[in-house]
Amino acid sequence: MRITNEQNDIQSILFSEEQIRSRVAELGAQLTAEYADKNPLVVCILKGASFFYTDLCRMMKCHLFMDFIAVSSYGAGAQSSGVVRIIKDLDTSITGRHVIIVEDIIDSGLTLKHLRELLSSRKPASIKTVCLLDKHERHDSHIAADLCGFRIPDEFVVGYGLDYAGYYRNLPYIGVLKHEVYE
Ligand code: IMP
Ligand code: MG
Repeated sequence: MRITNEQNDIQSILFSEEQIRSRVAELGAQLTAEYADKNPLVVCILKGASFFYTDLCRMMKCHLFMDFIAVSSYGAGAQSSGVVRIIKDLDTSITGRHVIIVEDIIDSGLTLKHLRELLSSRKPASIKTVCLLDKHERHDSHIAADLCGFRIPDEFVVGYGLDYAGYYRNLPYIGVLKHEVYE
């Protein structure tokens, strides 16, 4: 086990607590308007989206249902394997429901693409994808989420739910991890 002051491993802060809060409030207001009469089923992709998801649901002022799914795409490292495996499935049937998938970050876009296809096969009434961060330089634009918090450069970021090897999730801001931490 590594004992460290996590703050020392951060190269720069991309988004402060206040910036995140204000953007999540905007996204919440947008979804509230869109889903007011739809009783949406909001899906959290564990674990990275957990902070974003709970804050977003709190900002959605409508009747909604929460459920969780866990997939693995990265293992413990910083490189995408391209393989998405379901570790914990939803508890609820989504057939006929309006589904909102909440993801932390889009890198290659493979995780969200696979998950969207998988959940579509269960015949929901509609599916929307929402991601907090988008490394837009890393994928074609057609793979982007329907709704995105912030577009970011191609850097490895942690905090506000995002991890490196399971750590740094509890940092209240989103920061770029120093390269020497993972190289
Ligand atoms: P994709 O399938 O390549 O789009 O990767 C998406 C997943 O990789 C996310 O759900 C994250 O768990 C992880 N990921 C990608 N980039 C980062 C990053 O910069 N920091 C932390 N996790 C990341
Ligand atoms: Mg992750």
